[in-house]
Amino acid sequence: MESSKKYKLCSCFYLFLFFLTSVAADPHTESLLSLKSHLTDNSNSLKDWFIITQGVSDKALACCSWSGVRCNQDSTSVVSLDLSSKNLAGDLPGNEFLVFTDLLELNISDNSFSGEFPAEIFFNLTNLRSLDISRNNFSGRFPDDNGNGSSLKNLIFLDALSNIFSGPLPIHLSQLENLKVLNLAGSYFTGSIPSQYGYFKSLEFLHLGGNLLSGNIPQELGNLTTLTHMEIGYNSYQGVIPWQIGYMSELKYLDIAGANLSGFIPKHFSNLTKLESLFLFKNHLSKEIPWELGQITSLVNLDLSDNHLSGTIPESFSGFKNLRLLNLMYNEMSGTLPEVIAQLPSLDTLFIWNNYFSGSLPKSLGMNSKLRWVDVSTNSFQGEIPQGICSRGVLYKLMLFSNNFTGTLPQSLSNCSTLVRIRLEDNSFSGVIPFSFSQLPDISYIDLSRNKLTGGIPLDISKATKLDYFNISNNPELGGKLPPHIWSAPRLRNFSASSCSISGGLPEFASCKSITVIELSNNNISGMLTPTVSTCGSLQKMDLAGNSITGGIPERLAKLPHLTFLDLSYNNLSGSIPSDKVFQSMGKHAYEGNANLCGLPLKSCSAYRSRKLVSVLVACLVSILLMLAATLALYYIRQRSQGQWKMVSFAGLPHFTADDVLMSFGSPEPTEAVRASVSKAVLPTGITVIVRKIELLDKKKSVVLNVLTQMGNARHVNLVRLLGFCYNNHLVYVLYDNNLQTETLAEKMRRKKKDWATKKKIINGVAKGLCFLHHECYPAIPHGDVRSTNILFDDDKMEPCLGEFGFKYMQHLNKGLVSSTANTADQMNVIRTEQQKDIYNFGQLILEILTNGKLMNAGGLIQNKPKDVLLREVYTENEVSSSDFKQGEVKRVVEVALLCIRSNQSDRPCMEDALKFLSEAENRFK
Ligand SMILES: *[C@@H]1O[C@H](CO)[C@@H](O)[C@H](O)[C@H]1NC(C)=O
Ligand SMILES: *[C@@H]1O[C@H](CO)[C@@H](O)[C@H](O)[C@H]1NC(C)=O
Ligand SMILES: *[C@@H]1O[C@H](CO)[C@@H](O)[C@H](O)[C@H]1NC(C)=O
Ligand SMILES: *[C@@H]1O[C@H](CO)[C@@H](O)[C@H](O)[C@H]1NC(C)=O
Ligand SMILES: *[C@@H]1O[C@H](CO)[C@@H](O)[C@H](O)[C@H]1NC(C)=O
Ligand SMILES: *[C@@H]1O[C@H](CO)[C@@H](O)[C@H](O)[C@H]1NC(C)=O
Ligand SMILES: *[C@@H]1O[C@H](CO)[C@@H](O)[C@H](O)[C@H]1NC(C)=O
Repeated sequence: MESSKKYKLCSCFYLFLFFLTSVAADPHTESLLSLKSHLTDNSNSLKDWFIITQGVSDKALACCSWSGVRCNQDSTSVVSLDLSSKNLAGDLPGNEFLVFTDLLELNISDNSFSGEFPAEIFFNLTNLRSLDISRNNFSGRFPDDNGNGSSLKNLIFLDALSNIFSGPLPIHLSQLENLKVLNLAGSYFTGSIPSQYGYFKSLEFLHLGGNLLSGNIPQELGNLTTLTHMEIGYNSYQGVIPWQIGYMSELKYLDIAGANLSGFIPKHFSNLTKLESLFLFKNHLSKEIPWELGQITSLVNLDLSDNHLSGTIPESFSGFKNLRLLNLMYNEMSGTLPEVIAQLPSLDTLFIWNNYFSGSLPKSLGMNSKLRWVDVSTNSFQGEIPQGICSRGVLYKLMLFSNNFTGTLPQSLSNCSTLVRIRLEDNSFSGVIPFSFSQLPDISYIDLSRNKLTGGIPLDISKATKLDYFNISNNPELGGKLPPHIWSAPRLRNFSASSCSISGGLPEFASCKSITVIELSNNNISGMLTPTVSTCGSLQKMDLAGNSITGGIPERLAKLPHLTFLDLSYNNLSGSIPSDKVFQSMGKHAYEGNANLCGLPLKSCSAYRSRKLVSVLVACLVSILLMLAATLALYYIRQRSQGQWKMVSFAGLPHFTADDVLMSFGSPEPTEAVRASVSKAVLPTGITVIVRKIELLDKKKSVVLNVLTQMGNARHVNLVRLLGFCYNNHLVYVLYDNNLQTETLAEKMRRKKKDWATKKKIINGVAKGLCFLHHECYPAIPHGDVRSTNILFDDDKMEPCLGEFGFKYMQHLNKGLVSSTANTADQMNVIRTEQQKDIYNFGQLILEILTNGKLMNAGGLIQNKPKDVLLREVYTENEVSSSDFKQGEVKRVVEVALLCIRSNQSDRPCMEDALKFLSEAENRFK
């Protein structure tokens, strides 16, 4: 009691003192208190900024003991203020700083200070050596005195990284003779780099990256012979790289990436004999890499990726004794990968993907340096994988996909225990898979699809405890059986082995927790699908189509909470499809081709059973009835019987009858009611639908109805919904969802230019819709008529819906242009050809969207147009010249379009890949 009273008394006393002395405190202390009162201090970081003791000595400053404040030895003046990372905010009052004429260091980094940066700090703190205002929210212009010369004669260090300054770069700084570090990166400075920036006397570090700078890079920068670090990229300059940069003999680090530069790499760079890092990626540099570049033997990191460089890799690169990173990806380079690259003693990362390289990889690649990451994918390499690629024992990513590699996979890869990711898909590798998975403890991603491998899947694959993705699909002669414990691999999410001639049964689904995707279509798998499959709680997709699986469909499959795709078609399954609605939602095509399977969505089992029972009887009667039937049929055909109207409506919709539909046409004679091929009708339930009329041609009814059913079961956000159809022997009325806007993409584009985000969304949506039709439907449904007038929108969110899909193809069947027996080679060929057309048209559609409708059906035209010209045209149309992050994206999308319209069909990507490229485009530039 006693003591707490005393304490209260005391604090009152201090408070009293505070008020008393605050009036009379020294000017330094007073300024700081005033500064504190101006700021928002949400974390109470300045809680010790008050006066507690009365003048220990008259001269000593009261503030010297405060946090962040440092005084000189006799405490008569403040020499350093460190307010960094104190969660302070508010405007900084400049006049409170005027008294700190002895201040040497001021650090207010990493707060939320806003407003203009006070000029007083610049022009009155004449002794300041170090000023750190980085990571704040200062805005407006950076203080500049228009060339009168700053009084900060002693300033050595100035860091203003990451603020929101705008306007031109301050010119006067170049007169600070002692300045060694200048960082103005990460704001919104505009205009060009002042030529005066070539006159810094002592500058060692210059960072202007990530602003909105434009204009030419001044050649005067070449005068900065004391500079060791220059980062000026991520701006949008004009013109070329000034060759005078070659004079900056002390440079160790040069980064002008993402800077919109054109022209070529100056050979004068060879004089930068101390350069360790050269980053010029993401520009428009063209021509060959100068031979002289190889003379910079100090280089450690060389990244020239994402330009238009052509020609070959210079032999002079043999001089790069210290080179660790060589990145030339996304260029137009050709020739072979020279032996000298394989000889480099320090190389650890080799990225040359997406060029036109050919020939074999050097045999010694990987033997002379600790190679960690090799990516040579998407070139035209051939020959074998170098035996010693992992011989230094550190290789962890090996990307060789989409080349023309042949031969067997080297045995040595099996001992390459550091491997994490290996992508060899889309080559012509043959022989057996040599991996011993118990020796690959870290492997997580393996894609060997689209090769010619044999000898089955290694049985110890389940020992790969970190394996997440495994794809070996489309190795038609692979053979073998499924590894017994595959489903219990602890991390395995994707297992794809479609079209691999795999036989034997499905392994037991025991402790099957992680598997999400199982793709095993088109193999010779037999045996049953056991109910234990229900232990695979993460399963989303299971495709077992085209095998010889017998037995029933386990009811417990329906218990899998995430299952959204199931395809059991074309097997030998029997019995009834369980009645759970999960099974119905998979659509009819998921079960077709199983002769002894019945129940919804196939034919109901009662019909099936009774049919079976009476089949013997029927057989006896057939011969008699046949004669009668033939006579009757002849009679009816003469009458051109229209037959009964029937209605098919697809899942999730109110059922209506054929009569409902016909009534809504408002005429007793429906044949005449709908004259136009497309019209609207209001059903009795109040639903408005779009109706499309198809006249059935001779004997093609069942074929057309089959395709229509398949189309109706194809549900996807990017496809117009087909609600159902009603038909008789002569006519089909197809009913479509009417909840869409009437304006098509073509009309929308004509009316108003779309911004880039919207265009991206439309292109992606269309790609997803097509990808679904081509790859998720079995057999695939070719769209047949991809163009902007067939694209509608669900609402104002600009999510595209593809209309008319499947129609052209169906009409082909209707007209008998295609053999109509299901799944014949002929039909598959037609589907494939039509798919190719879709991909081509998709490419054309992208160009149409990117050019706001200017380039329509321009596939043929574009092939003769230089890519530069096209790109420039597209950039202009999309107004992307200034913001370069978008430009990268736009370029990639154009590239996808160009791939899709390649004249050689086999060079075009499938829709799955096109979609993947598009999303890569998006991710790369995030
Ligand atoms: C300023 O403070 C930050 C955060 O404490 C620190 O990282 C930085 O190095 C300081 N600046 C100077 C120039 O000392
Ligand atoms: C900085 O300024 C931006 C834009 O004015 C604002 O969105 C952001 O919230 C501010 N940040 C802080 C930490 O005050
Ligand atoms: C601050 O600097 C400006 C410009 O150099 C000068 O005109 C002014 O008198 C200075 N103010 C003080 C209080 O020293
Ligand atoms: C120098 O400063 C004075 C005022 O301090 C100003 O009037 C003058 O315009 C400045 N000089 C230049 C070259 O801008
Ligand atoms: C600076 O560079 C320019 C152009 O490169 C040159 O004309 C000028 O003489 C150089 N100035 C100095 C002081 O070196
Ligand atoms: C490069 O160095 C050579 C020889 O030292 C010299 O003659 C030439 O002028 C230099 N060029 C540049 C751009 O620095
Ligand atoms: C792959 O090799 C085959 C046969 O050697 C050749 O016809 C084909 O054009 C090559 N493909 C590529 C992409 O180089």
